[in-house]
Amino acid sequence: MASIPKSEYARRRKALMEQMEPNSIAILPAAAVYIRNRDVEHIYRQDSDFQYLSGFPEPEAVLALIPGREHGEYVLFCRERNPERELWDGHRAGQDGAISEYGADDAFPIGDIDDILPGLIEGRDRVYYALGTNQEFDRHLMEWINVIRSKASRGAQPPSEFVALNHLLHDMRLFKSAAELKVMRAAAAISVRAHIRAMQASRAGLHEYHLEAELDYEFRKGGAKMPAYGSIVAAGRNGCILHYQENDALLRNGDLVLIDAGCEIDCYASDITRTFPVNGTFSAEQKAIYELVLESQEAAFAEIGPGKHWNLAHEATVKVITAGLVRLGLLHGSVDELIASEAYKAFYMHRAGHWLGMDVHDVGEYKLGGEWRVLEPGMALTVEPGIYIATDNADVPKKWRGIGIRIEDDVVVTRKGCDILTEGLPRTVAEVEALMAAARTQAA
Ligand code: GLY
Ligand code: MN
Ligand code: MN
Repeated sequence: MASIPKSEYARRRKALMEQMEPNSIAILPAAAVYIRNRDVEHIYRQDSDFQYLSGFPEPEAVLALIPGREHGEYVLFCRERNPERELWDGHRAGQDGAISEYGADDAFPIGDIDDILPGLIEGRDRVYYALGTNQEFDRHLMEWINVIRSKASRGAQPPSEFVALNHLLHDMRLFKSAAELKVMRAAAAISVRAHIRAMQASRAGLHEYHLEAELDYEFRKGGAKMPAYGSIVAAGRNGCILHYQENDALLRNGDLVLIDAGCEIDCYASDITRTFPVNGTFSAEQKAIYELVLESQEAAFAEIGPGKHWNLAHEATVKVITAGLVRLGLLHGSVDELIASEAYKAFYMHRAGHWLGMDVHDVGEYKLGGEWRVLEPGMALTVEPGIYIATDNADVPKKWRGIGIRIEDDVVVTRKGCDILTEGLPRTVAEVEALMAAARTQAA
């Protein structure tokens, strides 16, 4: 299965350390284990920043990068080997494994961190750390700093500055390497198969969770440990609820199903939405709205490339959707005025996309110095326009109400424009209907 090679983690650490000011230390904690209920834990997912720099999959770990440290720049605190605990909970790398398998220069038991980390911080001018994202760890860090301060009269030197680590690290994460794109393409390919399987399985009388099960089957069979976010399987009017999660309603003849789901491979997300008819054939109204969303997505793709700023793709979707809604008689007036007054937001209330990477809504600034960011090769993003006609929208004829349609694909900016990572999944009305018709013929 595609994964990030060890050498890439080393390259990332080096790249970060090269950008840090002299005489500094960066500190990052691993994600905590969260209790689901009583003795049951949530499936463990490593913190994305910690994973990005280490590839180390265990909880109860802390990573420190200390450029120029004589005894090693990369220090990892982690759990000790423990045959009894490993019998119950599984393998631990231990300190030897942290060095031999994960490339740490130096490794210590996590239980010794209070004794050792203050000594590593002491004498450094700056601490790079994401203050405010992990309250418990913030408190620990302040305790370690206070240990150093308490020894100031004996010559100990506490750091004078805290620097937000996120600026450096998240800008690195925004630009995907060849290895990252390989993993993201692998995640996308599995998610494409999952969406195809759900379309093929759809029929009236099933429930939304039947289709969710088809998605999960392909995700797991492809080697994905989990979806990148809670799958949305929304039939009929549920498609108008943007983050619908119940997934337990009946699939009815004549309704659409909106599926927004993607798996995660080696901590990299995919994020795909397709909307298709439960029975395999779009009604005239469903088709009209679908083709408008598709036209807006095509217009967005054309605005994604080097030199084009982040918001151009969104603006393109707003123009196409507003003009289309006027054409269909769902909005009335001049397109420019309807855009200026944001009247389109009654139907299209979200943005056309977001950065995509280790987090489904990935890190990275959208504006720099107050201006929309200009796209560059290696940035990955989603393109996901939608139209949602509320069931209680009394301003539109009844035949349109309750239709919710989104089409979402994942792209990477290239030197010439953009590449679609989620290629191979039916997108046009004809492609969707043909795939579903073929599945019905086979089943009959
Ligand atoms: N699945 C979340 C989103 O599309 O942004
Ligand atoms: Mn999505
Ligand atoms: Mn998305």
